[in-house]
Amino acid sequence: MTSEIKITKVTQSRVSEVNLENITMGTNFTDHMFICDYENGEWNNARIEPLVLIPTHPAAMALHYGQAIFEGMKATLGKDGTPLLFRPEENAKRMNFSADRMGMPSFPEDLFVEALKQFTALEKNWIPKSTGSALYLRPFMYADEAFIGMRAATSFKFIVMASPAGPFFSRKIKLFAEKKYVRAVNGGTGEAKAAGNYAAAIRPTEYAKAKGFDQVLWLDAQDFEYIQEVGTMNIFFKIDGKFITPSLTGSILSGITRMSVIDLLRSKGFEVTERPITISEIIEASKNGTLEEAFGTGTAVGIAMVEEIGNNDLSIKFPAENPVSVMVNDTLNAIKVQDIKDEFGWIVEAK
Ligand SMILES: Cc1ncc(COP(=O)(O)O)c(C=O)c1O
Repeated sequence: MTSEIKITKVTQSRVSEVNLENITMGTNFTDHMFICDYENGEWNNARIEPLVLIPTHPAAMALHYGQAIFEGMKATLGKDGTPLLFRPEENAKRMNFSADRMGMPSFPEDLFVEALKQFTALEKNWIPKSTGSALYLRPFMYADEAFIGMRAATSFKFIVMASPAGPFFSRKIKLFAEKKYVRAVNGGTGEAKAAGNYAAAIRPTEYAKAKGFDQVLWLDAQDFEYIQEVGTMNIFFKIDGKFITPSLTGSILSGITRMSVIDLLRSKGFEVTERPITISEIIEASKNGTLEEAFGTGTAVGIAMVEEIGNNDLSIKFPAENPVSVMVNDTLNAIKVQDIKDEFGWIVEAK
């Protein structure tokens, strides 16, 4: 297909109806969406249009067989008011990794980035300005072919929409170390950003919240011993001055914040190791006084500092001070609004 994007604008923006500086992510949506159709083996008709309801056939295959994947990214404003994206090419790559796992067509990565740039530039007035706030961008793909039967669909939609977002967790979080339910198994779909992974996590997350926790800390599916990740975040621990994060062994989502934090910590002189980590090891470090900090990393949440990991039999408390977590959070936020120089080449201007 040609990568030209046809743009149809709304006659009147709704942006003045919302208070961008006090807003919960996912509750308000911007004026437009990017949309592209897959039929007869190719993507066609890339366009930006006013956001409207999309007619859906009751037999649309995504509704029955779950061919649905998504991405999450954030746009911020730079010093001179230019909209900025954070590593959009990594989201394009991960989207296609997910598409491949779920039997869905890949989307041209250059068009993905171009669509995100043009869409974000058009929705610029929706980007909140306060620290930690951003315009959350949601690219997603789903099977819209009307068919009952178990095979890959032949028609899909790729859409990008956006929702202004305030800072996610402004306080420290408590994680429930889940010993009954699992998020993913090796060979399953945990490495893909597949909608069904999140459906499976909803009930266990509700149970964890009912017990006073914020999120589930997922453990491995076989021994319930190896730490995997959290809700919509990867996890880092600081033990005896060094950082560790679970290695990507086949059931963990490869977070873009995770890869950025690894580079950032190393650039500040910290040792960071990616390796399997057991919950017993964290308990032991807590007992011998070497457990220093822990935080979750994710686009929606940014850096979420951990105060406690527990379950019915366990309570691991973290020290009140977590200076490196704060440094990582502040540095990432500062890079995203060009308060400090982006030495890593992560920022892409949307214009
Ligand atoms: C299951 C899961 N793990 C980790 C992450 C963190 O990934 P990223 O840093 O790319 O947002 C996310 C969020 O996308 C997620 O949904």
